[in-house]
Amino acid sequence: MKCAVCGRKAAVEVRRQGRAFCPEHYLEWFEHQVARAIRRHRMLEKDDRVLVAVSGGKDSIALWEVLRRLGYDTTGLHIQLGIDDYSKRALEATRRFAEERGLPLIVVDLKEAYRLSIPELAELTRRRACSVCGLTKRYVMNRVAVEEGFDAVATGHNLDDEASVLLGNVLHWQTDALVRQGPVLPAKEKLAKRVKPLYLLTEREILAYTLLRRLPYQHEECPFAVGAKSLLYKEALNKLETAMPGTKQTFLEQYLKKIEPVLQKGLSAEEVALKECERCGYPTTGEVCAFCKTWDHAYRWAKRKGQIPGELRFEAEPRLTFIPEGKRGGDARPAPAQEPAG
Ligand code: AMP
Ligand code: FES
Ligand code: ZN
Ligand code: ZN
Repeated sequence: MKCAVCGRKAAVEVRRQGRAFCPEHYLEWFEHQVARAIRRHRMLEKDDRVLVAVSGGKDSIALWEVLRRLGYDTTGLHIQLGIDDYSKRALEATRRFAEERGLPLIVVDLKEAYRLSIPELAELTRRRACSVCGLTKRYVMNRVAVEEGFDAVATGHNLDDEASVLLGNVLHWQTDALVRQGPVLPAKEKLAKRVKPLYLLTEREILAYTLLRRLPYQHEECPFAVGAKSLLYKEALNKLETAMPGTKQTFLEQYLKKIEPVLQKGLSAEEVALKECERCGYPTTGEVCAFCKTWDHAYRWAKRKGQIPGELRFEAEPRLTFIPEGKRGGDARPAPAQEPAG
């Protein structure tokens, strides 16, 4: 196949668009896709301070690279989950990426900040690791963004993630979750704006980008992902995609265009008011937020088992480590944006 732009030998095929590109024009195409998604959904303003949630995997590393290249003022946030070597290697890749580019990074180590790792939290609460992990990550991302004055949190969710979550929500008709599927969740009192600039790019396309740009990233999957429903949904969607290229994109885009607005209208009439959590002061629909409830529960068991001292009370405020030390972001703007063409 030939590059759709210059006619040279193509290196990457984008099947859902029936096009292929040489390395140079693929990178240009990719960055243009991200810039366009940001503009179309008004995800970010040019001088926003953006907190990029970076797991160290290909998606969030690619996201940080593209935002940096587009000229955004970015700071990384990495949450150390304490899943043995998997987490250590994730931090290594994230640090390397940040240091090589002189970008500021904030690390929250759960074991240091709250005394328990994700595997311990899951065991103590007898819940699935992915569930307590997701809840904890969302809380920490939001809290750091609000307290450090960032305008938005950007995550590396891709088309495969979003289409698979949509499929799961549709199969169970989870209307509450369905209205939160959009690529932008607006800011509210003590809730930072959340954006997903890669939501229309596939895993395969993001991998091609990280490889062509030679970005360091964590290759392994989380050991707790094995057997997760989301992987089953992704497999099913991949089968459909092979038979009918473009299925994932149509499924997600048309849902967001045609169905989500209708659901939004219906639900906003019965919208539940958010209150302040009695424990931490952050928004919740109940008296105590899910984060405080889960960690309080874990602390009770951890004390009974002698894992933590009996007099210790759970404090929701995370301890932050700034890398390099003392650098709080906001002063690391790269050279003016080189806006990709195309
Ligand atoms: P996941 O829920 O693991 O599919 O991750 C979705 C997005 O959440 C990633 O693309 C990151 O932006 C963010 N994320 C996941 N894990 C972490 C982490 N340990 N630290 C910071 N951000 C994370
Ligand atoms: Fe959270 Fe795997 S990344 S449990
Ligand atoms: Zn080309
Ligand atoms: Zn709380």
